[in-house]
Formats: sequence, structure tokens, C-alpha cells
Amino acid sequence: MKVALLGGTRGMGRSLARLFAERGDAVCLLGRDPAELERSAEDLRARGGKQVGTVPCDLLKPEGFGPALDAASGQLGGLNTVVITAGMFAGQEELENDGALAERLLRANFTNTVVFCEEARRRLLAGGGGTLCAFSSVAGERGRKPVVIYGATKAGLSAYLEGLDHKFRAAGLRTVCVKPGFVKTGMTAGLKPPPFAGEPDAVARRVLGAIDRGKPVVYAPGIWALIMLVIRSLPRTVMRKIGF
Ligand SMILES: NC(=O)c1ccc[n+]([C@@H]2O[C@H](COP(=O)([O-])OP(=O)(O)OC[C@H]3O[C@@H](n4cnc5c(N)ncnc54)[C@H](OP(=O)(O)O)[C@@H]3O)[C@@H](O)[C@H]2O)c1
Repeated sequence: MKVALLGGTRGMGRSLARLFAERGDAVCLLGRDPAELERSAEDLRARGGKQVGTVPCDLLKPEGFGPALDAASGQLGGLNTVVITAGMFAGQEELENDGALAERLLRANFTNTVVFCEEARRRLLAGGGGTLCAFSSVAGERGRKPVVIYGATKAGLSAYLEGLDHKFRAAGLRTVCVKPGFVKTGMTAGLKPPPFAGEPDAVARRVLGAIDRGKPVVYAPGIWALIMLVIRSLPRTVMRKIGF
């Protein structure tokens, strides 16, 4: 595979980048910090990655998305897989009290992620098809008190990815929407892990399987599919009462 990955410097993205590199896929890491990108690329090479590139790309600067994907394609001699794990998280209280932060998170996790996916979609389809994998969240499945704003960004992203899948699968675009539950990464450092919290390496293995099979939706860890089945079925009156 020839993979461009935005968000491969940390967390689940880093775990996924390692799996791609270790099995011989060509990987181009996209990210906002050139020094961090180079460190991560060295890590992939040390793990046996034979073709590893880096390209600067900031999720908050959408004008750079197209050129970054073109540069990645140039480095790898084409692209057939694009993954975006990059995203922001902040607690609900913090977002309620800081309008500028809330606006930035809405832009990063929804508007700009969709813009990035659109740039990737055009290029993958122009090349005959491929896989577009984006990290949404179980937080997008219901409106919930602790993640009102963050969850809304992920709800929008999940809906967009489902629409893409319906519209373009027949044309060769395989859309994979990842819905992690709580996973222990830098993003959740400082939060108390709930039962069934996942580890990034295990999540990455599950996501890689979904990418290989072109599975449109993947919950990770898998138990979250069941948990969310229950949560989706709860009446609003119950959701209003509980803290989940
Ligand atoms: N962890 C969870 O429990 C959880 C649950 C559900 C969904 N998710 C979603 O899963 C995805 C990955 O989460 P994670 O926990 O692996 O996150 P993480 O460990 O915090 O890593 C986030 C990655 O995004 C990159 N990033 C952030 N802002 C960026 C920007 N403006 N431009 C470019 N790159 C940027 C970071 O790059 P730097 O190295 O430059 O910081 C880093 O590589 C996210 O979309 C998150 O919302 C996470």
C-alpha cells in the first residue's frame, strides 16, 4: 500500500503507522511539526520501514491539504490509502468557557477534517480508487453531557463518511470510519480511564484489519459496538439524568 497519514506522530496514528511500516507498506507522515515528523519517520525506518516520507501539513491550515497530499504522492510514487487520525480534544467545561478554543476544535475536527477528506477523495478517485480512513468517535453516536461540542464534531464527521461510502464505493472509494471508545493516549492523559479503555496498539491492529477489508465502520475496542448499541437505545429522559 501507499499510505499518506495525517496524525502519525502520536497515539493511535503512531501505532497504525508502525504497523504499515513493519509490514512493508510505503508511508508518508503528514504533520504540523517538522522535527516531530522526522523523529517519527526515523522510528518507522528503525522498525523496518523501507519507504518512509514526511510532509508538513497542519489541520488548522486547509490551504495546505491539497499540496501536502500531492507532495506525499510524489514521494511515494502514487497514493492508494489516506488516513487521518489527527484531531483535537478538550473537556466540555473548558469549551463552554473558551469560545475561541471551541471554534478551533469545531474547525479542526469537522470542517477541516472534511476538507482534508475531500482533497483525498478527489485524488484517490482520480487514481482509480483507494481507501480513505478517518477517525471519528463513539462520542458522535448520541448527544452526551460530557462531550456536547466534541461529540457534535464527531457526529458530523461520521455522517459525512457514511454519505461518502454510499456515494462513491461503487466508483472504487472505500471509506473506513473508525469509532474509538476511550483509548489511552496523550489525548486522554489525565482523564480517568473507564472500564473497557483500549490501548493504541490493539486499536491500530483492529483498524488495519478494517482498512484491509474495506469495512465501512469499525468500533475499537470492539466491545464499544455493544456499549453504543445500548446507549443508542436509551430514551432521552434517561440520557438527561445520567452523567454518561
Ligand atoms: N483517545 C481516545 O480515547 C479517542 C476516542 C475517540 C476518538 N478519538 C479520536 O481518534 C483520533 C486519534 O486520537 P489519539 O488519542 O490517538 O490522539 P493523540 O494521541 O492526541 O494524537 C493526535 C495526533 O493528531 C495530531 N494533530 C493534532 N492537531 C493537529 C494539527 N493541527 N495539525 C496536524 N496534526 C495535528 C497530533 O500531532 P502532534 O504530534 O503535532 O501533536 C497527533 O499526531 C482523534 O481524531 C480523536 O479525536 C480518540
